[in-house]
Amino acid sequence: MAQETRREFTRQALQSLTALALIDGLAAHRLFGADVQPIVDGWFKELDAITRDVHDLRVKDVEFQRSLESLYARVDLDALLKSLDFDRIAAGVNYPAKGAKSLPVDFKNVAGLPTGLVFGRQIFAMTKGRSVVPHGHDNMATGFLILNGKLRGRHYDRVEDHEDHYLVRPTIDRSFSPGEYSTVSDHKDNVHWFTATSDHAFIFNIHVNNTNPENPNVPGRVYIDPMGEKVAGGLIKAPKVSHDRVNQLYG
Ligand SMILES: [Fe+2]
Repeated sequence: MAQETRREFTRQALQSLTALALIDGLAAHRLFGADVQPIVDGWFKELDAITRDVHDLRVKDVEFQRSLESLYARVDLDALLKSLDFDRIAAGVNYPAKGAKSLPVDFKNVAGLPTGLVFGRQIFAMTKGRSVVPHGHDNMATGFLILNGKLRGRHYDRVEDHEDHYLVRPTIDRSFSPGEYSTVSDHKDNVHWFTATSDHAFIFNIHVNNTNPENPNVPGRVYIDPMGEKVAGGLIKAPKVSHDRVNQLYG
């Protein structure tokens, strides 16, 4: 290769590399304006702090519910959607015939979060008429934030556990729009059930395990049929059911 040609080749190669580096840099920063990023970073830092408080039992689960609802109330929804890369996620959902799809959430666009988060997270996606099926929780605090679409959201207090049923009391039954939220703990609004009333609906969810030292049960979901027999005191006798059964009934 003549020297002149080699020099030209090197120059072109360097230009290509520079272009690649620029594109890479743009991809990393494509989601945000500088004005939006600190807001959402700060919001996630607060989420990290309040989940650690309840995880380490510095606050009671009902206090955590108030903190989480306060945080959800202050969300910059547009910034959160961008941070979650929501448009890309929403475009690629393989919706189930029954129930809701659980989609993974990553926080790679959020700066300053520690590793080893103490809260689980996911996005529920569903089509019209489909549900996050009715379920309660043991030893767990959790909260929903509507990202997109409309849903009918129902909650129940879990008043008593029995051999084959729970006694529950309806507490919330209303329409939820983007930016609206609700929370769950062992002590308040323990059962929830969300049904999409728009063509598609998306819910952001976080949950913390082992939030009630008085509950000997392993953290997790319990499935119930809340359309059971109405009994005295405004309560409902809600049979314990399997996931398959509740999905068949209400998914
Ligand atoms: Fe739940």
